[in-house]
Amino acid sequence: MNAYKTIETDDYPGLARMFFENGLEVEPDAPQPEGLIGCWEVLDSSGSRVAGIELEMRAGEYVIGGITVLKPYRKSGIGELMLQTVVDKVRKLGGPRVMLVAKVPAFFEKAGFYRIAREDSPEISKCFTCDQFQISCSPEIMERKL
Ligand SMILES: CC(C)(COP(=O)(O)OP(=O)(O)OC[C@H]1O[C@@H](n2cnc3c(N)ncnc32)[C@H](O)[C@@H]1OP(=O)(O)O)[C@@H](O)C(=O)NCCC(=O)NCCS
Repeated sequence: MNAYKTIETDDYPGLARMFFENGLEVEPDAPQPEGLIGCWEVLDSSGSRVAGIELEMRAGEYVIGGITVLKPYRKSGIGELMLQTVVDKVRKLGGPRVMLVAKVPAFFEKAGFYRIAREDSPEISKCFTCDQFQISCSPEIMERKL
């Protein structure tokens, strides 16, 4: 168990920049997503952001649009902690499942997410219309039923 806490933030642009800088397909200067539900962050002891996660509604589904933990802070349970915060939020909202497009499926599997076929998924990602999908890039569509 670690001492980190997940707290809500309204700094979507700051999180989007962090996602972009850590290799996620998020435009750093794009406007806030229309379906944004919330953003959460984890701070270190000096108050600097070391991790963030974002939840939005896409195609009628609760979708995690980004999750990042800064490199020096990885593998200490922060990612799992943030996922739990978002899963709890969706549960409170009455959602039947949480979905995402995973670059690191093994991490999400540990948190109870399962891979689903592209044809079984609503259009939750721009990856579906990208010509590199499953050619040079193979993200997995995943869900966790609640
Ligand atoms: C993926 C990411 C969020 C994981 O965050 P983290 O804080 O390091 O994860 P945790 O420490 O909470 O790990 C939870 C479990 O997942 C495992 N895990 C973490 N990263 C993993 C990886 N890359 N591959 C496989 N398992 C992983 C951990 O070993 C741990 O398992 P354990 O409980 O059996 O020890 C982080 O590596 C990251 O920000 N990566 C860059 C951005 C990215 O790819 N985000 C995902 C986009 S879909």
